[in-house]
Amino acid sequence: MARIIGGIGTTHVPAIGKAIAEGLQNDHYWKPFFSGFDYVHKWLAREKPDVAVVFSNDHGLNFFLDKLPTFAVGAANEYRNEDEGWGIPVVQAAKGDAPLSWHLIEGLVNDGFDITMCQEMLVDHAVTIPLNLMWPSGDWPPIIPVSINTVQHPLPSMARCLELGRSVGRALATYPQDIKVLVIGTGGLSHQLDGERAGFINKEFDELCLDKIVNDPEALTRYSIHNWVELAGAQGVEFLNWMAMRGALTGQVTQVHRNYHIPISNTAAATIVLENAGTAARHAA
Ligand SMILES: [Fe+2]
Repeated sequence: MARIIGGIGTTHVPAIGKAIAEGLQNDHYWKPFFSGFDYVHKWLAREKPDVAVVFSNDHGLNFFLDKLPTFAVGAANEYRNEDEGWGIPVVQAAKGDAPLSWHLIEGLVNDGFDITMCQEMLVDHAVTIPLNLMWPSGDWPPIIPVSINTVQHPLPSMARCLELGRSVGRALATYPQDIKVLVIGTGGLSHQLDGERAGFINKEFDELCLDKIVNDPEALTRYSIHNWVELAGAQGVEFLNWMAMRGALTGQVTQVHRNYHIPISNTAAATIVLENAGTAARHAA
């Protein structure tokens, strides 16, 4: 039986990829952010996940405004990265796990999620930067990428993304292989890239989100997307990916690590590690 060992939430701004490529991890500006991953590395070395489900949003590399699925799930054995600009180098392809992808797709459709299934899918910095932050050696586990539209309005709600994650969690709990699964949500936290509020950061709201995501994610579903844009900035809605990650944690959830640092490239940067205990038993009931 697949076991969901926990979830990790992290920022994915392109500047991080450039800093990695230039080896700036110990630079005065970057160290407070990168040092937040020291614990993550130890935790991953101990937990050794076999596969990672990655909730993120595409930034135009794979989908664009003309065709943008609300939810898309990769079902390939490999996911390539390509040049997307931003000054970040193209990195290695991520391995996939197509049988597990199809199991999740089956579960999501049965639960009423009309997702797009992608037997070919590129992954952009929203996937590759978190993988490089978590496994700097490049020894990434296979992934199942789940893309959530955080770009073209109308966006899905916080509640819908929490439910999407819960559906993934239920499907994982019925996967017959004895594997350890990590769930990742990328993006955020508060930031706005353009307009009069470019550079907007809301530390107070970010801290509320980091507190509530641990054991009261429902509290965050009362905010509409428009509320969220006001409180967290136009791109702060990437927290939808974190909500899906949290939804997939179906057992007893404990925060074991948290780092918050502002600013990184005009963005509030955060990293959180949530442990998840007792999923299979709970879902078998
Ligand atoms: Fe982003």
